[in-house]
Amino acid sequence: MDILRSPEEMQAWSRARTRENKTIALVPTMGFFHEGHLSLMRRAAELADTVVVSLFVNPTQFGPNEDLDRYPRDFERDMALVRQEPVSAVFAPTPEQMYGQGFQTEVRVLQLATHLCGRSRPVHFAGVATVVTKLFNIVRPDTAVFGEKDFQQLALIRRLVADLNIPVRIVGHPIVREADGLAMSSRNANLNPANRAAALSLSSALRLARAEAARDVRDAAELTRTLTSHILSHAGTAIDYVSLVDCDSLEAVAAVDERTVLALAVHVDGKAGNRVRLIDNGFILPR
Ligand code: PAJ
Repeated sequence: MDILRSPEEMQAWSRARTRENKTIALVPTMGFFHEGHLSLMRRAAELADTVVVSLFVNPTQFGPNEDLDRYPRDFERDMALVRQEPVSAVFAPTPEQMYGQGFQTEVRVLQLATHLCGRSRPVHFAGVATVVTKLFNIVRPDTAVFGEKDFQQLALIRRLVADLNIPVRIVGHPIVREADGLAMSSRNANLNPANRAAALSLSSALRLARAEAARDVRDAAELTRTLTSHILSHAGTAIDYVSLVDCDSLEAVAAVDERTVLALAVHVDGKAGNRVRLIDNGFILPR
């Protein structure tokens, strides 16, 4: 497995694969791998001849008061994990290599970035869209795999490649969960184990929403009230949003149907008095 540090090295590596007629699938990540990331890598290996994983904690997608400094990092641990997967190369640049002196370009997806996480994280999606565009230009993949865990991110990237005619096939991969239902996330490393119940309120809210919808509660306002009080009944939770949205437009719906996704963002108490922002989502009715 090759570890490539600079965009130029990565581009040269990618050109060499293209000359060998090998297709490339890219899995963009910010590292601190868990089973969710690893399953994306395995999926990527089914979709192309070679897999490239990018590992870059992208500073521009974090707001000024967010957890960039606390974002978990362990390069050696990540390399040990990725070496056991069908991955040909890891692209791990520094922020200076990605955003050199004079950098001043931004890619923004307009409406899709205004909903859900975009409300409380106003700079986040411009940072994501810009870095993913850069990664596509550096790695030149045929396919890129993203997790449905970040449902809004996936919707936005599908829009981005369509709007800018970027020749990359985008593949979404289902959410990978812990045995108790918690969606895997690098940020789970910052959770307070004594307060696991608070973190589990997101996945149990999804189950509750499905049960309510199955017994014909379809009114979004009523469901939102039920889910909000369910989450707040767990000590150490604070809600960012509980939203029932259309799966394509991400706009709020009045009544739940097969296209409706429940999207959740909740702050829970974490280690050392810090709060950890968790997200989760899922369709409410069978599709
Ligand atoms: P990161 O949070 O490291 O996630 C990398 C990829 O793993 C994303 O596509 C994410 O949706 C997916 N993922 C995370 N947890 C998952 C889970 N439990 N099940 C399935 N997939 C999961 O998302 C980012 O990094 C960044 O925003 C990035 C796209 C790399 C741009 O900086």
